Amino acid sequence: MRVPIIAGNWKMNKTIGEAVEFVEALKAETASAQNVEIIVCPPYTAIHKVAKKTAESNIRVAAQDVFWKEQGAYTSQVAPNMLLDAGCTYSIIGHSETRGRFGKEDMSPAQFAFFAENDETVNAKVHAALAAGLKPIMCCGETISERRAGKTDSIIQTQVEKGLAGLSPEQAAGMVIAYEPVWAIGTGEVCDTPEANRVCGMIRAKVRAMFGDGAANSVRIQYGGSVKPDNAQELLSQPDIDGALVGGASLKVADFVAIVKSA
Ligand code: PGA
Repeated sequence: MRVPIIAGNWKMNKTIGEAVEFVEALKAETASAQNVEIIVCPPYTAIHKVAKKTAESNIRVAAQDVFWKEQGAYTSQVAPNMLLDAGCTYSIIGHSETRGRFGKEDMSPAQFAFFAENDETVNAKVHAALAAGLKPIMCCGETISERRAGKTDSIIQTQVEKGLAGLSPEQAAGMVIAYEPVWAIGTGEVCDTPEANRVCGMIRAKVRAMFGDGAANSVRIQYGGSVKPDNAQELLSQPDIDGALVGGASLKVADFVAIVKSA
């Protein structure tokens, strides 16, 4: 059986003090939660403090990104072993926001071009993370225009195929893949439950085709995109949805706890 995995992606929110306050409350509220993996993804600045505060608990810490080199002249980047050293167990890789997959109304085109993650960099990051012992949460998702053009399945399959290229079946088995339709991120517009489950099932089928039954049965596939306390239970009850990657609703303890409890 796959253990459900609920991750709260805080994005660029919370100071160290706010992050510590959050996890103290989360720890108290989820101390008896069993058979669910709880993850918080603070900004880099708060990772170490949050990891220390959650060390003796059932809460794990993820970074929101990682670089593929071990060390060197890469100003601003953070290596997998540095994240492990700071207390991370996981890292998000290839979020649609870092891929520049949706427009930021408050940015110029040149500013928006800063977000340029692609399948090849995602793949390099996945390999580097796994080699160091950091577990990837690799994101994929289609835009609304791709969905309207009937390209959802081919876009997702390509992202999964390129993102996981070159892994061993054992490495693939330990992956977490987050299916996040771009049009559902931060919009309040959630993907229909049967459709979310269908795409997650298609991702599992792709993993099966690439790596075999063992990997397909073990890989955990999350749905993300406007997951809230009132839709979490329905989404999480689907056979191919093994968890949730939660943005906005992970910023409030009560909402995040309600989603954890639905799992
Ligand atoms: P959201 O974000 O829950 O606010 O839609 C999800 C994500 O970006 O991971």
